[in-house]
Amino acid sequence: MRVTMIGTGYVGLVSGACFADFGHIVTCVDKDESKIARLLKGEIPIFEPGLDELVKDNVEQGRLFFTTDPAKAISEADAVFIAVGTPSRRGDGHADLSYVYAAAEEIAGLMNGYTVVVTKSTVPVGTGDEVEAIIKKTRPDADFDVVSNPEFLREGAAINDFKRPDRVVVGTDSERARDLMRELYRPLFLNETPIIFTARRTSELIKYAGNGFLAMKITFINEIADLCEQVGANVQEVAKGIGLDNRIGRKFLNAGPGYGGSCFPKDTLALMKTARDSGAPIELIETTVRVNSARKQKMAQKIVDALGGNVKGKTVAVLGLTFKPNTDDMRDAPALDIVPTLQAEGAHVRAFDPEGMTEAKHMLKDVAFASGPYDCLQDADAVVIVTEWDQFRALDLDRVKASLKSPVVVDLRNIYSPAEMAAKGFTYVSVGRP
Ligand code: UDX
Repeated sequence: MRVTMIGTGYVGLVSGACFADFGHIVTCVDKDESKIARLLKGEIPIFEPGLDELVKDNVEQGRLFFTTDPAKAISEADAVFIAVGTPSRRGDGHADLSYVYAAAEEIAGLMNGYTVVVTKSTVPVGTGDEVEAIIKKTRPDADFDVVSNPEFLREGAAINDFKRPDRVVVGTDSERARDLMRELYRPLFLNETPIIFTARRTSELIKYAGNGFLAMKITFINEIADLCEQVGANVQEVAKGIGLDNRIGRKFLNAGPGYGGSCFPKDTLALMKTARDSGAPIELIETTVRVNSARKQKMAQKIVDALGGNVKGKTVAVLGLTFKPNTDDMRDAPALDIVPTLQAEGAHVRAFDPEGMTEAKHMLKDVAFASGPYDCLQDADAVVIVTEWDQFRALDLDRVKASLKSPVVVDLRNIYSPAEMAAKGFTYVSVGRP
């Protein structure tokens, strides 16, 4: 089939390349000329493991194209995906849908023949109805359906999550559109991936309910971690003990500095706003948002406490800035709260991140960026692990101890063991463990 992807961000580029890899002919459209120019040169503007080869292969095989001109791409398409950003609107936390609506207008003007318009971006419940109304108004004669098809891609694992999803959710009441979406996802259909068909609004809510639940699950184990610290229990063992109950499940029970990223923070805010505006507030999500946001400040205090309650004039080495490993994405990363708070308490901060420093340089000030983990912690009064990149998991602890001015390690991702660190003579502080 012929597919057009509007937007070449994390979701659009991965989805477009994967649809091409399924055998469809895909054209990715973006207004950003420089981004399209880089893609045409084979450069990938985001860090996503495996994406460069996937794009290169499919461009070479003539299945994947990039353009800033939507006309041809939309008029020839069987399905046009809206994969543009839906950022949190400044101030009130509602999702900003201006890019989605602009894309809908553009599609309306250029559609030719029966076309399925798919909202792939995370959009509040009812957005599909809005998109449908915009298109109807612009092109009363158009033959189309608007379908919700939310993405469940984790950054750093996006290609795997697209090709081996737990499920595909398709929101539409149109049989014609369902047939077309089945054809589109046929390669997954063949390997028994569950494809569930729901009404459009149900599909839109599934996305928010899923992310909201995951954010709540993480926040739950983070609060249990705080209790563990008070009662001398081990949160990793609590997580294992409850996670083996298959009604709970073992994933997303890693205690840490709080969730960040481009999805959970914005989706939880949008969900709680939609819920409150609809007269059915979800207080569990409102609490999740509040607790998670306060947690990042608490983490800075944990670091200050580990240095005897005063970091004035001290140097703190921060390993990891991105919101999670295997991404270059700094959006809502805990480091963006932790670092400025330490600096406000008088600390000098040095930082290293394998992929995030380019972006971090625009978001953090007065931070000395290091060339590697050991360079970062040289002569520092403490080292803090904020993001669990693999290369921080097996540091030469003797070398770490010799390099630090004082052997203080604050591990916000529990990647080392308290016993091992105590045996090495470190003052070791972690999350939810004695
Ligand atoms: C998330 C959802 O997982 C994905 O399905 C959705 O499509 C987009 O949002 P992503 O934001 O890329 O994906 O990252 P994810 O791996 O879910 O982690 C989100 C945040 O939670 C990160 O800050 C991570 O550090 C944190 N996290 C995750 C924990 O603190 N503990 C965990 O056990 C898991």
